[in-house]
Amino acid sequence: MQTRREFLALSTAAAAMPLSACSEHDMDDYTEAAARLRVNLTHIPDMKALVRFATLAANGHNTQPWRFTIRKNAISILPDLSRRTPVVDPDDHHLYVSLGCAAENALIAGKTHGLPGAARFDSTKEGRIDIDLTPAPAQPDALYEAIPKRQSTRSEYSGRSVATDDLKRLEAAAKIKGVSIILITDEAGREAVLDYVIAGNSFQMDDPQFVQELRDWIRFNPSEALRTRDGLFTACSGNPTMPAWIGKPMFNLFFSKDAENEKYTKQLKSSAGVAVFIGEREDKHHWVQVGRSFQRFALQATALGMRHSHINQPIEVPSVRSQFSNELGLGKARPDLVVRFGYAPPLPMSMRRSVDDVIFS
Ligand SMILES: Cc1cc2nc3c(=O)[nH]c(=O)nc-3n(C[C@H](O)[C@H](O)[C@H](O)COP(=O)(O)O)c2cc1C
Repeated sequence: MQTRREFLALSTAAAAMPLSACSEHDMDDYTEAAARLRVNLTHIPDMKALVRFATLAANGHNTQPWRFTIRKNAISILPDLSRRTPVVDPDDHHLYVSLGCAAENALIAGKTHGLPGAARFDSTKEGRIDIDLTPAPAQPDALYEAIPKRQSTRSEYSGRSVATDDLKRLEAAAKIKGVSIILITDEAGREAVLDYVIAGNSFQMDDPQFVQELRDWIRFNPSEALRTRDGLFTACSGNPTMPAWIGKPMFNLFFSKDAENEKYTKQLKSSAGVAVFIGEREDKHHWVQVGRSFQRFALQATALGMRHSHINQPIEVPSVRSQFSNELGLGKARPDLVVRFGYAPPLPMSMRRSVDDVIFS
């Protein structure tokens, strides 16, 4: 446990460091690398190009829990179980949702560049998604243009509401077999969701294993984020960057239940609405479908100039999840994801591992 005196010593040491030690150059390198990952495709030279677009998908804690195999006009996406997050996601729900997000990006990019296809979930062993593509005329798609621009924006939003037509576009984009969504935009409804976010967050913040797992995936500075190319880089959440030896004790000191609950209250109150995604069944195949639906929603939001960010606390704690499900009148159905949306300036983009590090064939 850090004493107040030790913390002050750390802070003084940090303040005494020249700015370059916290490395503006590293931030420039980071920004350049993040941009390189997102260079647009003019055509699809090979399946590796599609895999790069697939990996730009949202994924829990940015662990990038996927492996890819490629053949001519075919991609398979498999789980990488070494990148599980067993505390926050003990049944690998988020992991399979993340695979679905990646699959949807690949499908959209393929279709745009004249290689449309279909995804099939094979439930044998750990499960895999097989995507077969067939040459056809290219079909431009606004969702494709949004792939390199989409980001999880974990800041306060402007409070501006979303026009009814745009809400309808979000709903239409998210339509995927086996998944339904509920959009909550009225103040009372958002306040009700906030109660469950606070209940879930309070439970998680009281669990030292949850906090430890989260801290393990935080990257405190650009060089750490560039070295691992995964995890949650502080700048992407609007937080300061610092050397890891300062960041880790600072995290222990400042990451508190009250501060987090206050942050989520402000974030939710400033959002235009909340989307809840519900799979028809509680199995890996439907979790993949939920990921595909969410990814399409997020891309449509991006294409319309909106931001989004997960507030999954109500669905991550089983006891809170069943109450949340009752609140929404879902009966026995499991609410799979909770996402807020609205308007805000962008934050830095997140990092990804290179294509060669995720392809296994
Ligand atoms: C299944 C799933 C669960 C997620 N849960 C959370 C969450 O609870 N809180 C959060 O801030 N972000 C959450 N995210 C967003 C990821 O952290 C984010 O996608 C990842 O860090 C990559 O960043 P990007 O979306 O900006 O590309 C989740 C994403 C997925 C797909």
